[in-house]
Amino acid sequence: MEHSFWHNKWQSNQVGFHQESGHPDFVRYFPTLPAGSSVLVPLCGKSKDMLWLAEQGYQVVGVELSEIAAKDFFAENGLTADVTDQSINGSQFLLYQCHQCAISIWVGDFFKFETDVFDALYDRAALIALPESMRPAYLAHCQALLKNGSNGLIITVVYDQTLASGPPFSVQPEELTSLWSGPLVKAGEIELIEQEPRWKSKGLTSFKEQFWRW
Ligand SMILES: C[S@@+](CC[C@H](N)C(=O)[O-])C[C@H]1O[C@@H](n2cnc3c(N)ncnc32)[C@H](O)[C@@H]1O
Repeated sequence: MEHSFWHNKWQSNQVGFHQESGHPDFVRYFPTLPAGSSVLVPLCGKSKDMLWLAEQGYQVVGVELSEIAAKDFFAENGLTADVTDQSINGSQFLLYQCHQCAISIWVGDFFKFETDVFDALYDRAALIALPESMRPAYLAHCQALLKNGSNGLIITVVYDQTLASGPPFSVQPEELTSLWSGPLVKAGEIELIEQEPRWKSKGLTSFKEQFWRW
């Protein structure tokens, strides 16, 4: 998707993907990590799941295109942050570093984000926000930012893409497992069609969320 697509969404507050209470099931599937582990959250939006990750004692680093999302995240959670200009290989970022907890958000293009490698990854509504043509580069970039022996969780959705268009895009298991170098385990699957009138009204009979771990 073009950057303007997402900037428009945030500017017009069309952020239906945002979950006010966080993802209801991710804590069941997220791997247990040693305290102090670093967790990368690509395309983080203003996800409340970052709060839970920080509460576990992890160092949370989100990357997000929209500064509105970063500002909202801190303001809506009663947090404050230092903001600094940063440059990575000539690409500009704003770095929000929370005063009260171990959460930082880099505002800029994830594909230009390069830092030290991370212990773990949390992807909710990131891979599935991207069209098929961008997903190989996205997953390769995620893996380049992870240490050997990393852990993580990627949440995908699977539905009949001929009946509805994304985002969120349907990502078939074969696509994910073929693009990811290394073993992935499907740790769980939840059928959401009864809770998703928007998808039912498009004629879909199934809309599944899948939890992939390594
Ligand atoms: C569907 S939303 C999901 C946000 C969040 N993960 C959540 O669970 O609420 C996708 C997010 O990716 C951000 N985004 C899209 N392309 C990006 C890019 N190239 N770099 C950083 N963020 C990006 C958008 O601004 C948007 O906030």
